[in-house]
Amino acid sequence: MRGQEIISRLRTGWMGREIRVLDEADSTNLRVKAAAGEGASAGLVILAEQQTDGRGRRGRAWQSPGGENIYMTVLLRPDFEPEKAPMLTLLAACAAARAVYQPGEKRPQIKWPNDLVMDGKKICGILTEMGMKGVSTEYVIVGIGINCNQTEFPEEIRQKATSLKCEYGHEVCREEIVARFLQEFESLYEEFARRKSLEFIQDEYETLLVNEGKRVCVLEPGKEWTGVAAGITETGELIVKKDSGEICEISSGEVSVRGVYGYV
Ligand code: BTN
Repeated sequence: MRGQEIISRLRTGWMGREIRVLDEADSTNLRVKAAAGEGASAGLVILAEQQTDGRGRRGRAWQSPGGENIYMTVLLRPDFEPEKAPMLTLLAACAAARAVYQPGEKRPQIKWPNDLVMDGKKICGILTEMGMKGVSTEYVIVGIGINCNQTEFPEEIRQKATSLKCEYGHEVCREEIVARFLQEFESLYEEFARRKSLEFIQDEYETLLVNEGKRVCVLEPGKEWTGVAAGITETGELIVKKDSGEICEISSGEVSVRGVYGYV
């Protein structure tokens, strides 16, 4: 990945104006967290060709082989309350969906809250973490992994992971996708910072939502139930209609959702 190739394509005001491309990192989230502690400015982006300790949600590992994919983390210093930080993840998912789409190719979909999928398999995961100072947000870091040109997947994830190259049938330019993502994310982030709500993106998100109108299995600590997904709220909760007719709003911190027949 060539930093210069990203910079020459970048059309942002502040996001990605400082970009560090590392040959290897333990985790780009850890690198950005360290930089945040040293006073780095909002908009810093760290990319790595490979990660030795790539992290996923719920304490899982994110497999990060070298030279084929995107491993990238963005530093934000929002002035809004910590409760709003999870909404940034949904914005990042929309930005990633816009960035990877190529006219004439398959459209990515979003598995709530923030996985991108194609043909029922995952192509992108997002891990958002937050640093607090007292009761306020000191920083938010948004880490994105996009499977770009990888074609071989380890046995244990082969059934549920894919890449843009596998789906499109040709290589993709990682620098172009990074530049597009940063441009889309900056514009969505600024709109969100003005409105403090996801209302402006609800329609687009629901159009992309792979779960929309489908039966989902909600996994709460200690219990499991099913219902039909019916969109998101303006704060990013998934709306699920139980068979009894009761409408529930579920937030991503508490529960996870999967299709009743598998991953989506
Ligand atoms: C998930 O779906 O579980 C989230 C995966 C997030 C992976 C990205 S890769 C770049 C950044 N650095 C990490 O260690 N994790 C995120």
